[in-house]
Amino acid sequence: MKHLFTKGTDPKAPVLLLLHGTGGTERDLLPLAQRLSPSSSVLSVRGNVSENGMPRFFRRLAEGVFDIEDLIFRTQELCEFLGSAAKEYGFDRGNIVAVGYSNGANIAGSLLFHYRDTLKGAILHHPMVPIRGIELPSMVQLPVFIGAGENDPICPPGETRDLEALLIGAGAHVTTHWESFGHQLTGTEVAAAAEWFHRTF
Ligand code: MLT
Repeated sequence: MKHLFTKGTDPKAPVLLLLHGTGGTERDLLPLAQRLSPSSSVLSVRGNVSENGMPRFFRRLAEGVFDIEDLIFRTQELCEFLGSAAKEYGFDRGNIVAVGYSNGANIAGSLLFHYRDTLKGAILHHPMVPIRGIELPSMVQLPVFIGAGENDPICPPGETRDLEALLIGAGAHVTTHWESFGHQLTGTEVAAAAEWFHRTF
């Protein structure tokens, strides 16, 4: 997968896996990595799917309606990529914290929904429930931060609460931060995620 890797100064700090939103690139979330953990290694990936030229991490049939077969395939592809990137760059595969926005948060959620112990934690900015009706792996003690908007038309509050309940049901420790805005990522949400990260890792 097309990506950027930068080696951090602290080999023990979590490796940040950055996953952009629809139409983004692997450069979009680099400023977040600086805010969260400037000494971390950063692996920032570009989605392999193109929707009219806009990179995404999996196909969708309409806004908010996912192509589930492709979602499953792309989740596996990303999971395998993490293993090969860890070998190539010499970082600990067990020390990855995902940071995703929108479509990137959805593929991060899908990693959690499909693979046990694939992430050490996750920051999900404006995520949806990636897939429903499957048995989730155990996520006991897994720290997850969700950033949500009370007026988010793409990820409405009910969707956020469903995701929260599913993650908690699997054992995760979920912290949800609400903004009274829409789908955009605000400075106060980024600050809340950074505060959570410093408290958690
Ligand atoms: C998605 O397709 O993953 C969500 O609708 C969010 C988006 O990328 O617009």
